[in-house]
Amino acid sequence: MKIWIIGTWYVWLIQALWLAKIGFDIICLDIDKNKINDLKNGKAVIYEPWLDNILIETKSKINFTTNYYDLNNCDIIFVAVWTPQDKRGRTNKDFIHKASISIKDNLNKGKIIVIKSTVPVWTNKEVSEILWEWFDVVSNPEFLREWKALDDFFEPDRIIVWFDKNKKTDIAKEKIKKLYDFFIKKEIPYIETNWSTSELIKYAWNSFLATKISFINELSQLSDKVWADIEKLTIWIWLDKRIWKKFLNAWLGYGWSCFPKDIKSLIHQFQENWLGWKIISSVDQINDEQLDYFLSKIQDFYDDISKKTFLVLWLAFKPDTDDLRESRAIALIEKLKINWANIYAYDPLEKARENTKYFYPNINVVERLENFENIWDIDWIIIATEYKSFKELNWQDLKIKVSMPVIFDGRNILDKEKIINIWFIYKKI
Ligand code: UDX
Repeated sequence: MKIWIIGTWYVWLIQALWLAKIGFDIICLDIDKNKINDLKNGKAVIYEPWLDNILIETKSKINFTTNYYDLNNCDIIFVAVWTPQDKRGRTNKDFIHKASISIKDNLNKGKIIVIKSTVPVWTNKEVSEILWEWFDVVSNPEFLREWKALDDFFEPDRIIVWFDKNKKTDIAKEKIKKLYDFFIKKEIPYIETNWSTSELIKYAWNSFLATKISFINELSQLSDKVWADIEKLTIWIWLDKRIWKKFLNAWLGYGWSCFPKDIKSLIHQFQENWLGWKIISSVDQINDEQLDYFLSKIQDFYDDISKKTFLVLWLAFKPDTDDLRESRAIALIEKLKINWANIYAYDPLEKARENTKYFYPNINVVERLENFENIWDIDWIIIATEYKSFKELNWQDLKIKVSMPVIFDGRNILDKEKIINIWFIYKKI
């Protein structure tokens, strides 16, 4: 079975590589010539562990192209183009519409078109209308996380599909089932549903996780006020078996890749259906406020932060990624800078440091943290991303560099007892 994937960014590239690894022949198309050239030369365009190795391993099974005509001998076409948000927070569907028109104009009829991109309700129906009854349209949303994308692809929690009704739907059903046979054999739930459920699931899933985060973050503010311990509170909530502990950490809040975008899109979907929405709009608002709350904690400690020098540790929106989009660390640095603070910032991933220097040239990025030799006159330290390796940092040595040994831990990651024992003042969420 030959598979064609339109788009070479996150979801798409991972999908392509693993399908090739399982044994399928893949052709990847992207209209960006530079990206395709990089991929042809074995250069990964995104950062994921093991990606370079898999690109080499699957070289003979994957071809890359910028030309729709090259793809006429494929059976299944995955449409996994970008669905960014527009200025008002709605999902921009231009790329998906353009890809559908290109399919209609350039490809032989009878192919199966699988929509992988995260799209709001009605989009699959719109694609069906563009492709009419010449093609079979299937909705099959994707749930990959950055840095875990390879694991998530191989161990999905479920596979959701919707098939548009068509004369050849049964053949399409058979082929898609065959494609996912590897997973079905592993007893991963393979669920057929209706079009709107399939479209809504990704938004529901991500918004619920974000809601858990904002719930506990909001509670952390009350806890502070009444001297309750939010960390203990959280652990004891987890003891109830009905409550799953993941995504229930009182921290600085969430960033990219999908939460902010999907929440905004969901709000518009409520709006477009003339419904009120309450919980979901508070989720984003609490996430923003948590950043201000953390900043106020710093300012409570010392009123005037202008000219103070902070070392901000870890820059990406979550550990082990180079992705800075909506990163809480970057957002916090920008707020500190507005208050005239000086910043040193560090991330263990070279690519994250490079991206910071490129996109935020006014941030002073530290290249190495060993021996702390290139850092001077820090006043305070901020932990902004939840790297576990952080715990192993030589805090004793770092203390020598700090004029006032205070750590503001935005991810409650350090062992309070240990850090206080080495004479740091420790402030957490
Ligand atoms: C998310 C979804 O999990 C995934 O299903 C979807 O396909 C894409 O969006 P991703 O953004 O890559 O994946 O990372 P994830 O691990 O979900 O973390 C998102 C953000 O939540 C990070 O900024 C993380 O720091 C934050 N987070 C996580 C919290 O603030 N608190 C927590 O308790 C857990």
